[in-house]
Order: sequence, then C-alpha cells, then structure tokens
Amino acid sequence: MLFEPLPALRYDPSDEEVPHDEAETTQHLIDTMRKVSETTLRDEGQPIRSVHAKSHALLQGELEVLDGLSPSLAQGLFARPGRYCVVLRFSTIPGDLLDDSVSTPRGVAMKVVGVEGPRLPGSEGAASQNFVLVNGPAFGAPNPKAFLANLKLLAGTTDKAPGFKKAVSGALQGVQAVIVAVTGEPSPMVATLGGQLETHILGDTFYSQTPFRWGGYVAKVRLKPASPELTALTDKHIKINGVPNALREACLDFFRTTGAVWEFQVQLRTDRKTMPIEDASKVWPDGESHYLTVGLVRTKPQTAWSEARSQAVDKGLSFSPWHGLAAHQPLGGVNRSRRPAYEMGRNFRAEHGARAITEPTEVSLPD
Ligand code: HEM
Repeated sequence: MLFEPLPALRYDPSDEEVPHDEAETTQHLIDTMRKVSETTLRDEGQPIRSVHAKSHALLQGELEVLDGLSPSLAQGLFARPGRYCVVLRFSTIPGDLLDDSVSTPRGVAMKVVGVEGPRLPGSEGAASQNFVLVNGPAFGAPNPKAFLANLKLLAGTTDKAPGFKKAVSGALQGVQAVIVAVTGEPSPMVATLGGQLETHILGDTFYSQTPFRWGGYVAKVRLKPASPELTALTDKHIKINGVPNALREACLDFFRTTGAVWEFQVQLRTDRKTMPIEDASKVWPDGESHYLTVGLVRTKPQTAWSEARSQAVDKGLSFSPWHGLAAHQPLGGVNRSRRPAYEMGRNFRAEHGARAITEPTEVSLPD
C-alpha cells in the first residue's frame, strides 16, 4: 500500500532541548580539536583544518534555484528562483595530510556567494550561505558527548606513523566490504577509522546529516550527482591504495574535459518521532519524506586542484554551517556545538597563517 506523504512540520524553537552540561562538552570538543591543530602545525609547519584537512577538488560553479517550487520548499535562500556563484571544497576527514591509502569518509563544503537576508549570529556583515556535507546520510554520533568520545580516539591517532594508519585502513576496508555485503549499508564508524571503500569521490552523494531550519520548516539537505558523467562514477572502484593523491588526480582528470551537474535536494521533516532533532545519528526515513530537488549546481571543465587554488580556498576561506541566513539556522546539539568549534578553527588558522581568511563577494579562482 502507498502512503501519502505527511505535511511538513512547522519549525518550533521548543523542538531543541539543550542538556545542562552541553557548554562543558563543547569546550572539551574545542580543546581536543585545538590540540590536533597544534600537533599538525608543529608537523606541517602550517596551520591546517583540525578535521577535513586535505582537499581533493576546489571548484567554482553556479547554483540555480529552481522556479516553481511548492511553498514549503521555496524558503530562505530558495524562496525565489535565481543564480549564484559557488565554491566547492572536496575533502577527506582526517586532521592530518595523509596518503589517500588511509581511506576515510569524504566531505564537500559549498559556499554560495551574494545571498541576501537576515543573518545568523556571528555571520553578520557577510553575504554567503555555507553548506557543509559528508558522504553518509547520518552523523557517526547522536550528540556532542558521544562525538567527543569518538573524537578523542581519532585525535589520539594524529601524528601516529602513517604506515600504521595505512595498514589499519587496508584491514578495515575488508571489514567494511563484509558489512556492506551483509547489511547493504556501510558502517560510519568503520569508515571514519579508515574503512571508506575505494570508490571515486565524484560519484558520492553528500548529506548535511544534521537538521536545519528551512525557513518556516525543518529539513536535512544533500548534494547528489545528476549528470551522466557523474552518476557513472557512483560506487566505481578506483585504485587508491599506494597512490598518495589518488582522489585529487581522479578529480583533475575528470574536470580537465568534463563539466558536472549535481541536484541540491531537501528532505522536509514530517514526523517528530522518526525524524529527531537532537539525535544526529538517525537517518530520517526516505520512505516518509523524500529528498526533493530545489536547485542545480553546475561546474564547467576547469583545473580542479592546484597550489594556487589551495592557497585561495584551503588557506583563504573558511566554511561553517553557522555562516549563513537565519532562515537556515542549524538545529540540534551537534550543530550547536559546531558553532564555536568552527570559529576556533578559523581563528587558529588565521592567527598562525600567512594569509588572511576572507569572505568572497565574487568567485574567481586561479587555475
Ligand atoms: C559536534 C560536531 C562537530 C564538530 C565539533 C566539528 C568541527 C569541525 C571543525 C573545527 C572543522 C574545521 C574548521 C576550520 O578549520 O575552518 C570542521 C570541518 C568540517 N566538518 Fe565538522 N564538526 C562537527 C560535525 C560535523 C558534521 C555533522 C559534519 C557533516 C556534515 C561535518 C563536516 C565537516 C566538513 C565537510 C568540514 C570541512 C569544511 C571545509 O571544507 O572547510 N562536521 N568541523
């Protein structure tokens, strides 16, 4: 039997519940991440992100907000049809610059430039909307406290012999392949520790994992390959083991000749119980509320990565889910804890780097 989708629930501030010790947990998260940055500053001689340090593609493109969206979808940045310049930064999770043989989940940060409207606290004066996404539908931990426990484990591996990490990663990929064969889904925790399958990064779908205000409603978002050249890469095996920059080289090869189109999609919250705000580890069931396309992200062929681009984007920009419109306020404990953590990351990199971190008013990346 087919079920009619339920109407989207209205945003209600009382949906958020702040535990009494959240501020303390957040401070521990910040301290742990700062320690990772201090270790890598010593090792690398330059400040890098405490997570998602290594970039694989740095792209410029365009977001088209589609015309004719239904009222519950036409919210915030998507309230009116339009075209905006975007920067996309593809990365992998670790806070150190490892060989790709240590195969971990991938992220995309997207900065939409020239956005108008009331802003989130801390991003007043800027005119961009950031979306920070990872290639799995839910976060590895339900709340900041559980994430802190995972992070301490990962932080302990920063600076460990890369050969050891490669050996562990190789073994975990075997475990991951068995988990996928048995359950049909990869395990986020195995992936984080180095068991991400060796697939082409441009075939992946990237999710917000956590919920956001969607104007008067609440939603999760994702970026999904749409053009045939991209969808052909979904789950496509590429040789990563033994090739230090395999993902970057695969992106450079692709964009040398080919453009790309992704669908920007939204999953509206329709049920309080099955679509929680305070548990980021729960996948909101697709059967109850489908992801619907509200925009298209297009990129032309270009030089997907270069030292000059890395200076401009890795060093010169910062991405945070709290950098945007009040209409897209991040919700839930994981998102609340992220706000000061991303600020710390940005400030640490600005303090110790040779290059100022700025907010672009237009997008023109060097080759
Ligand atoms: C409490 C939870 C979290 C904390 C404390 C945290 C913290 C951080 C920090 C400090 C950075 C580096 C910022 C910088 O140096 O500019 C970062 C980057 C990043 N995070 Fe998170 N994060 C959390 C949850 C998440 C979640 C749920 C996602 C999934 C969508 C995510 C995806 C990313 C990505 C993709 C980047 C790289 C952004 C870029 O390219 O600049 N994080 N995170």
